[in-house]
Amino acid sequence: MTAAHPAGSGTLAEQLDELGQALEQGLASAHTAAEVEAIRVAYLGRKGLLAGLMSSLAKTPPEQRPALGQKANQVKALLQEQMETRLRELERRKEHELLARFDPSLPGRTQWLGSLHPVTLVTEEICQAFVALGFEVVEGPELETDFYNFEALNLPPDHPARDMQDTFYIGESTLLRTHTSPLQVRTMERMAPPVAAIAPGKVYRRDSDLTHTPMFHQIEGFLVDTDVSMADLRGTLTAFVHKIFGPDTIVRFRPSFFPFTEPSAEVDISCMLCGGRGTCAGKSCRVCKQTGWLEILGCGMIDPAVFAAVGYDPEVYTGFAFGLGVERVAMLKYGIGDLRMFFENDIRFVSQFG
Ligand code: DAH
Repeated sequence: MTAAHPAGSGTLAEQLDELGQALEQGLASAHTAAEVEAIRVAYLGRKGLLAGLMSSLAKTPPEQRPALGQKANQVKALLQEQMETRLRELERRKEHELLARFDPSLPGRTQWLGSLHPVTLVTEEICQAFVALGFEVVEGPELETDFYNFEALNLPPDHPARDMQDTFYIGESTLLRTHTSPLQVRTMERMAPPVAAIAPGKVYRRDSDLTHTPMFHQIEGFLVDTDVSMADLRGTLTAFVHKIFGPDTIVRFRPSFFPFTEPSAEVDISCMLCGGRGTCAGKSCRVCKQTGWLEILGCGMIDPAVFAAVGYDPEVYTGFAFGLGVERVAMLKYGIGDLRMFFENDIRFVSQFG
């Protein structure tokens, strides 16, 4: 864009008028703020056309100078005003164009929200199921003493069952807890019966392979009162299984052994993939390995030796306890095939559950 140069002829007054007209035309064909700025520099800049005309003021007869000077100032003010008006006009036009392009029917941009980890979700779901049955949630330290982790749970120093729960020792009798069962002891020490509690948390073992990680999550539950029987244990755990896996799930109690319960049992549920048949479309079920059953937890009636360790009278009180692995329940519930996925923190995996 170039500013038309006013004719060099004519009086200075005429030239000033022509300058004004030329600027008006120039502005009319300017379409951006940058173009207006270029015109401003060409006309009003230090080396612009107006400055050029002003320098010839010196050559005019002295008596004409005041009037000419005044005219020059008027022209300058006019030029400035015209330029500002044009700028405002362009600005308004730009706004209109933007508005014309704006589509209010487009969906808004959604905010990226974090989600809860599947282990957290399943832990919360299980705890809620038990809270609804009257249990309270308790927590305890991950760094435990030998007493709470083993001894008080009827696992004396040379007990062979300790081998199954080899862990990380911090000191001679301080270790990372191998299960959440110490919460039975800690809670019973603190509270008199009746007590019904559920204890979620991290546990550690010296294990690392396809199906074991050195850290995983467990939930311990127990209930102590007068006249608690194995029937209460069955009823409670069956209600829990139906809540988490659906009311058609079949629950099976199989005799087992744990040092801190007597008698002890393991709980199996009917396989949710094959419905307990052991086969899917004529093929062996890959989830239950054709057995029709999936093991989900260990349980039993609390051993009198545990009551003795916490000072409850075993002649008066009875109770049941159970312990389950959260990752295992999550894997069965969501059909997750690989335990390690829980700890890789791949956002594509963990964001599928919230
Ligand atoms: N603490 C056991 C483990 O980690 C699980 C368990 C089994 C807890 C039976 C219990 C129970 O309370 O009665 O292998």
